[in-house]
Amino acid sequence: MFEVIKQEGRARRGVFTCPHGTAQTPVFMNVGTQGAIKGAVDAFDLKELGCQIELSNTYHLHLRPGDGVVRDMGGLHKFMRWDGPMLTDSGGFQVFSLSGLRKIKEEGVTFASHIDGRRIFMGPEESMQIQSNLGSDVAMAFDECIENPSPREYVERSCARTTRWLERCVAEHKRLNALPGCVNPEQMLFGINQGGTYPDIRVRHMQDIAKLDCDGYAIGGLAVGEPTQTMYDIIDAVEPHMPKEKPRYLMGVGTPSNIIEGVARGVDFFDCVMPARNARHGKLFTWKGFLNIKNERFKLDTRPLDDECGCPMCKNFSRAYLRHLFVSGEMLAMRLAVMHNLYFYNQLMARIRQALDEGRFEEFRCRYSDLLD
Ligand code: GUN
Ligand code: ZN
Repeated sequence: MFEVIKQEGRARRGVFTCPHGTAQTPVFMNVGTQGAIKGAVDAFDLKELGCQIELSNTYHLHLRPGDGVVRDMGGLHKFMRWDGPMLTDSGGFQVFSLSGLRKIKEEGVTFASHIDGRRIFMGPEESMQIQSNLGSDVAMAFDECIENPSPREYVERSCARTTRWLERCVAEHKRLNALPGCVNPEQMLFGINQGGTYPDIRVRHMQDIAKLDCDGYAIGGLAVGEPTQTMYDIIDAVEPHMPKEKPRYLMGVGTPSNIIEGVARGVDFFDCVMPARNARHGKLFTWKGFLNIKNERFKLDTRPLDDECGCPMCKNFSRAYLRHLFVSGEMLAMRLAVMHNLYFYNQLMARIRQALDEGRFEEFRCRYSDLLD
């Protein structure tokens, strides 16, 4: 269930309710690809970091440990001990970005596992079956994420197929939820808009999939090689055709600035590997901009990383100590840095929501959109 409780321009403040609880939107989903956050952060840490929705991946968990194992362990919530809202991506993106040689047909995609090269087939039905075994609260439709730019004829054919795949996802998802012993019979399904950088194909595709009455809609195929302004233009074109009463999710985006600009364009859900990935390289977000903690200038810096931050790192340790951990290659460096960046992203969303609640989102956007780019 989703309710928009306040609006400022196109920006929406909402409440999303699913079997494992409620999330206040706009929300950033914290990425735990294989049922773990990279950087040795567990599900209990996530709670402390202000995470509202955890995101895992069909593709990875199907390959290892196998979704049958996760189902037999009682579903991914029990397996990883995260008891809050959870979304799983369909594999549609990972099959195209991670796997080796692949062949796309009407039925689905045959690809080589990035782990051992084994040939695997995944189509809409398989993706729904895997996500049903994982028992997430939101399953994503199986789609083809096209690289940008792609030839117009290819994008048209691919989008038509992604629509047919969505029809098959809807039917299979409904069948699986009704089966006795289903891990999460209330699981929802979100459709995904594609169409590359062609506004007219994007709009037509959105209109087509809106008819299928999914629980929410995502914009996919962005932040895959196109300029930032093109991404904003595509959101501007698609958004008016997305159902108003349903949640909107911008997949794989992005920088804090991209998120602020996405919210301004009517998006409710975001996810990105950036905070955790940057943290592992010592690149940290602060309310005064980016910094690289490995820099020599932090060698004797007694201050916390960010004096506005309440994360476990900033509450307890100095910049000099974190720099030392990075320079020495200590595993603790990763853990502390990832915790800080995830806390920062979750706090960013909390501040966006507060600004919306108080009718000053536009002011917030002016203050931070460029600073946090
Ligand atoms: N994650 C980022 N972009 C995409 C996309 O286009 N499709 C899917 N399934 N996942 C994504
Ligand atoms: Zn911090």
